[in-house]
Amino acid sequence: MEPSFWHERWHKGDIGFHRDAAHTALDSHWSALGIAPPAVVFVPLCGKSLDMAWLAGKGYRVLGVELSQFAIDAFFDSQNLTPTTRRQGAFTVSAAGPYELWCGDLFALPADALHEIAAVYDRASLVALPPATQSAYADWLPRMTGKAPILLVGLAYDESEMDGPPFSIPQNRIRQLLGANYDIDVLSDEDVMQANAGMKKRGLTALQETVYRARRIRE
Ligand SMILES: C[S@@+](CC[C@H](N)C(=O)[O-])C[C@H]1O[C@@H](n2cnc3c(N)ncnc32)[C@H](O)[C@@H]1O
Repeated sequence: MEPSFWHERWHKGDIGFHRDAAHTALDSHWSALGIAPPAVVFVPLCGKSLDMAWLAGKGYRVLGVELSQFAIDAFFDSQNLTPTTRRQGAFTVSAAGPYELWCGDLFALPADALHEIAAVYDRASLVALPPATQSAYADWLPRMTGKAPILLVGLAYDESEMDGPPFSIPQNRIRQLLGANYDIDVLSDEDVMQANAGMKKRGLTALQETVYRARRIRE
């Protein structure tokens, strides 16, 4: 997707992916990563996700990256925080409290931006990327995030019923993308069609949400 696709969605308020509460995967599965606060958690393609507030509430520091400054500003507003901003190459970095959110293209992040991170939380990041970019992301992740384990929330559906994003990423595709570098465990696998009225309107008859733990096997 071109950046303009996402900018337009944010400006039109077409953000059906945003949830008004933290994802239940965090309560259920975050502890499976075994990472203690106040470690830094990287949240790629973070939007204005309240999952970041959940992580901060547990004492973690959060480093997010997001194309839309509009989304980043909205996140800080939602937390009643006024960030300081600085330029860092092509990025504007907004920081307040435990949050540091980088505005720009994930793939342009400088290598040292992520040197402190201990874990990755990916909800609706991989599924936001079209297939060719998914492979680029799968190569990029281990290079940029080293040994950090990942909690990843993925979606799968019949692609003849709907065009992405979100793109369908069934378990075999997750293994194809990440299996060379990570040990992958399925932590939960649920039918979430009833809770996703927007997807039903787009034509889906079934939607499977799977939570994975990915642990690095080689560097
Ligand atoms: C499906 S949304 C998910 C947002 C968030 N993870 C959540 O759970 O609400 C994908 C987000 O990724 C952002 N995005 C898409 N491509 C990006 C890129 N290459 N670099 C940084 N952000 C990107 C979009 O602006 C959008 O906010």
